[in-house]
Amino acid sequence: ILSALPEEQAGWVQGLQDVRATRHAGRQFWQGRWQGAGVAHELVCALSGIGKVAAATTAAALIERFGATRIVFTGVAGGLGPGVRVGDVVVASDYLQHDLDASPLFPRWELPGYGRTRLACDAVMSAALHAASRDCVSEAGRAHCGLVASGDQFVGSAQASQALRTGLAAAGHEVLAVEMEGAAVAQTCHDYGVPFAAMRTISDCADDSAAVDFSDFVRNVASRYAQEILTGFLQR
Ligand code: ADE
Repeated sequence: ILSALPEEQAGWVQGLQDVRATRHAGRQFWQGRWQGAGVAHELVCALSGIGKVAAATTAAALIERFGATRIVFTGVAGGLGPGVRVGDVVVASDYLQHDLDASPLFPRWELPGYGRTRLACDAVMSAALHAASRDCVSEAGRAHCGLVASGDQFVGSAQASQALRTGLAAAGHEVLAVEMEGAAVAQTCHDYGVPFAAMRTISDCADDSAAVDFSDFVRNVASRYAQEILTGFLQR
């Protein structure tokens, strides 16, 4: 279970049994057993810190050092898609890196060496996350599933989010949300053949009030969503 910030996982480790904490690669990892109703999972929880490189390093450590056979990301994102509002949940169907540009050597946004722009999340895990998200939000229509874009930028103006949305849409990429880690974890998991899924609660609309909305949401709401959705996911 991977998140960028402590608030995106707060309280979760306390609910595990037989927890062992290990420091590795400058990060804290917690191993323990999650016990549900008639089902248990051995988990490793980690905080990556912010950004694509930090997330990729942590994902590689989860796989190489801790033997993770599946990775789930839980965190917050800025909403970009029509009808994606603060408090909604977006489950990623696939990911792209919005700040990747190796043109003219490769088409804009294409991952050099991969022959594609978007990396898909695991369908079975994503369906379970989506079902758990629908149970968590007030109306089913507020749990979305679609493309999420990652980049090493906090998108914090209406102008920047509009440019991102329309630029990607012009190339056929209808993006629902923006954050700073998921596409990197998707790429690491793709390289290792490890199934990956991600859920992001919408903390802001990547507009002029994004920084304030983000801080409020992360402080007050994010961990409750994470707890509820992870519990429903693991139970499934
Ligand atoms: N994570 C949450 N909100 C975000 C935003 N507006 N831009 C990038 N990452 C985010």
